[in-house]
Amino acid sequence: MKKRQLRAVIVGFGNVGQKLAAMLTEEREKYRGLADLELQPIAIFTGHHGGLVDAGGIDLAKALRQRREDKSFPEPPLSPLQALATLDYDVLVELSTLSIDKRGEPALAHVRAALSRGKHAVTANKGPAAFAYRELAALAKKNGVRFLFESAVMDGTPIFCLGRALKGLNVTGFSGIFNTTSNFVLSRLETGESMDAAVRTAQRLGFAEADPSLDLDGWDSAAKTAILANVFLDAGIDPLRIERQGIRSQTPEAVARAVFEGKRLKLLCRAWREGGRVRAEVKPREVPMENYFAMINGRAAALRLETDMLGPFWILEENPDLMDTASGVLQDLLVVAENR
Ligand SMILES: NC(=O)c1ccc[n+]([C@@H]2O[C@H](COP(=O)([O-])OP(=O)(O)OC[C@H]3O[C@@H](n4cnc5c(N)ncnc54)[C@H](OP(=O)(O)O)[C@@H]3O)[C@@H](O)[C@H]2O)c1
Repeated sequence: MKKRQLRAVIVGFGNVGQKLAAMLTEEREKYRGLADLELQPIAIFTGHHGGLVDAGGIDLAKALRQRREDKSFPEPPLSPLQALATLDYDVLVELSTLSIDKRGEPALAHVRAALSRGKHAVTANKGPAAFAYRELAALAKKNGVRFLFESAVMDGTPIFCLGRALKGLNVTGFSGIFNTTSNFVLSRLETGESMDAAVRTAQRLGFAEADPSLDLDGWDSAAKTAILANVFLDAGIDPLRIERQGIRSQTPEAVARAVFEGKRLKLLCRAWREGGRVRAEVKPREVPMENYFAMINGRAAALRLETDMLGPFWILEENPDLMDTASGVLQDLLVVAENR
């Protein structure tokens, strides 16, 4: 494939944005597949640490060093929305924080602004596809561009590109364990650790948020379930319409009792067709030890897809980290580069 430059507006430059920048600059030599991608940011925005805008191109390695040293960027001359509406770019890379209470905003507005101008949009943020997949996919189609979000579910493990590759199959439902923090916490409860101690361990290991509510209350799982239901079952659903129960009320005693009875407690996500509509739920469930889900322990995640002609078949992910997430964004960017 010939190397093509992609001019990018990057919104969000936290863990994922910085890992992406590191893979494209200082780590680049390690990844042969990146030889085909030249990403040239012309704007980088953060929420509270300023932004950079330079139509001539931003030095990504320098921007990365600046944020690593915890230096803020200057106050940008434009807001992200103004930049997306006026600058000359090929792709929006949306890596800002998920908001459930604001129904996916402002990421959703960022993606809509890019797609409606005929620019591609790539995001790891679950908000846009969880709250407005139908609208955004239709907009992308109308304007002949891509709306891609491989990292939004299972951190870049190929799910949506696999879905695009399936020909003639009709997905009838799915189930999965999608939230690694709550799965890790449930595994620790089995060892007798309390909920608080298990959450602190997950935070110390660097994968649970300082505020783990979105994970423990099932919102992260509900957002991922909504995306999968929207993409594979055309559900037109959002996380607020999913029956949801998190794991906060679980105790080491309840988890130990399940194990004693030959079962394991898991935060299971499911969607299926029923009476002409799609139903979806996120709930702690006891699964028998011989069920594959009982073997998804610690930080692993899994998706079981049911189709009319094949399977059910599984996609498993072991110990995801930031590189997996950034790699999903890079896979999407390579799809965009190929399609230009
Ligand atoms: N971490 C993972 O492994 C992972 C996996 C899958 C998906 N994701 C998703 O990927 C996205 C990025 O994750 P992350 O771990 O990089 O989060 P993060 O470290 O919290 O970084 C978020 C970035 O977005 C910026 N931001 C927040 N609100 C903004 C706004 N309104 N406008 C512009 N920028 C804004 C933040 O700026 P300030 O810091 O200045 O506020 C920060 O630069 C999230 O949506 C997350 O759910 C992450």
